[in-house]
Amino acid sequence: MDDLRVGVIGCGGHARSHFEMIAAEPRVRLVALAELDDRRREETAQLRSVPGYSDYRRMFDEHDLDIVHVVTMPAHLKAIVLDCLERDINVSVEKSPGMDSTETQAMADAEAASGARAIVSLNRRYFPEVLAVRRLAREHGGTVNCGAIYNKALSGAMERFDSLLPPPIISDAIHNVDLLRWFAGPTEDRAAVPTEVHSLVADGPRPVEHRQNAVIRFDTGAIGTIESQYGVGGRIQRAQIHAQDFSAYLDLTMREKKVEMYRSGQGNQPSEVGGRVEDPLDLDAVGGPGFNEVKHFVDCILDDRTPWSNLDDAVITMKLCEAIRRGHSGVLEL
Ligand SMILES: NC(=O)c1ccc[n+]([C@@H]2O[C@H](COP(=O)([O-])OP(=O)(O)OC[C@H]3O[C@@H](n4cnc5c(N)ncnc54)[C@H](O)[C@@H]3O)[C@@H](O)[C@H]2O)c1
Repeated sequence: MDDLRVGVIGCGGHARSHFEMIAAEPRVRLVALAELDDRRREETAQLRSVPGYSDYRRMFDEHDLDIVHVVTMPAHLKAIVLDCLERDINVSVEKSPGMDSTETQAMADAEAASGARAIVSLNRRYFPEVLAVRRLAREHGGTVNCGAIYNKALSGAMERFDSLLPPPIISDAIHNVDLLRWFAGPTEDRAAVPTEVHSLVADGPRPVEHRQNAVIRFDTGAIGTIESQYGVGGRIQRAQIHAQDFSAYLDLTMREKKVEMYRSGQGNQPSEVGGRVEDPLDLDAVGGPGFNEVKHFVDCILDDRTPWSNLDDAVITMKLCEAIRRGHSGVLEL
């Protein structure tokens, strides 16, 4: 099989993680990149040993690309993603997929009319540790409850909200909102759908000092909770998942993930205390320690399957983030 030819649009700070995933995947080959900023384009093109373009359409004309990663700010994503899909080029879309759910829906509609596929970079779904604990929860009868914390200090990037980024629960903490849907999902390949949301919003006085706490009921019967505060002590990203006689607590703050698990009732006797599980997580059962969104997308393209974090599914996550942000309380009509 020939390698799939990949292009990247947008070579800012976050593009590095895309370049690393592409370099680590033997079935794809980076062939070109596009970036508006001269210095970023030249430096990255030299570092990655591929031609750099200021106009991504010229890159499309000169290279027969199989996949394009669009790693721009949310405000710039939609127009580029529509161009990719119109040319039947498979596209990886950064989060948040647009400035609001109507933009995500427009991209989903374009995908439906295209011969190509799209994946949204809701990358927590693809962390091997997340997949492994999710699998264990299913083995224990399915998720009954899950929770997530996504907190940050205010940073210099905050002025980009409004013009280039939607509010942080949509553009940033979306990762952990989506993780709740994924944890509550009924099968390996499906995320749960929120049916009811009770959100309390209590913003601080400084710009983008957004604080929101929500409880969500899912169509699977599981309940999820999210706490997300901006302008507090520092960056913390934690999550938990519970099933009958099984719990896992994950710290996803750093590159190296930490997971703590507990199990009770190993025989027929439920134990009130429960025991700490010392066995290592079986990462090989979920694609291995190097599994990521790029590997999944290549699998989907080659096997003609829909990616887990497809655009239609991302519309649901976007609508859930929007409901949390507006302090929605009650049934959620999607
Ligand atoms: N998944 C994650 O964990 C994670 C982490 C950080 C950022 N992100 C996302 O990644 C995206 C990029 O973030 P960043 O920090 O790299 O932003 P950035 O602003 O540093 O980089 C974006 C780059 O895109 C370029 N660009 C914009 N329009 C273009 C066009 N038409 N053609 C070519 N280049 C164009 C800009 O010149 C800029 O250099 C954002 O959507 C952000 O939400 C995701």
